[in-house]
Amino acid sequence: MDIDEYIAEHISEEPEHLRRLYRQTYLRHLYPRMCSGHLQGRLLKMLTQMIRPRRIIELGAFTGYSALCMAEGMPADAELHTIEINDEMADELAQTFGSSPWADRIHLHIGDALDIIPRLDGPWDMAFIDANTRSYSAYYEALVPRMAPGGYILADNTLWDAHVVDPSTSRDPQTAGILAFNDLVAADPRVEKVILPLRDGLTLIRII
Ligand SMILES: C[S@@+](CC[C@H](N)C(=O)[O-])C[C@H]1O[C@@H](n2cnc3c(N)ncnc32)[C@H](O)[C@@H]1O
Repeated sequence: MDIDEYIAEHISEEPEHLRRLYRQTYLRHLYPRMCSGHLQGRLLKMLTQMIRPRRIIELGAFTGYSALCMAEGMPADAELHTIEINDEMADELAQTFGSSPWADRIHLHIGDALDIIPRLDGPWDMAFIDANTRSYSAYYEALVPRMAPGGYILADNTLWDAHVVDPSTSRDPQTAGILAFNDLVAADPRVEKVILPLRDGLTLIRII
């Protein structure tokens, strides 16, 4: 048994609808590893329960796994807006969210997060950045002024498979995007921040 299997056996079970969605993601999509999965999904739910946000924004829906986890943890009067640039995902996401218990509280926006963020009403109590790593700094700068005081931004993939500390890695645009984002957040006096070495790295950022 490896450590991931051990963890999976000792945390809250993955609900059946998410197990199904995860399987379908692996059967139907390129790059299924982008899907949050059991451990990160349970953490997203628990963080949402802890933060108790009324308004959540997600950048990068993919097959909807992380959105459903946050929806599961959000208070009864909360709503979640998720933005996905790939219009080929629109029908599948509409079906996934529409058949969920949160059909009327998950709002799907198809388009570029950088275009859509300014068009949505803030403030946001919680944001999950999980879209194009090249644009993480731009997402962050767009979100911070729209966050409620004491709100949280979570950013996924911030250790980028440990490429951030590997000098032999070619500094491709994706790695460069993550490095710039991590430096930007580290130097930003407007926020408190913690990086969890979970999966591909998850940064928790609190607006002061
Ligand atoms: C890592 S996946 C998201 C995974 C999902 N949040 C989960 O945990 O299950 C990244 C997604 O972001 C989308 N994306 C990339 N650039 C984007 C942009 N500029 N605006 C919105 N979505 C974007 C991609 O099409 C892809 O579906």
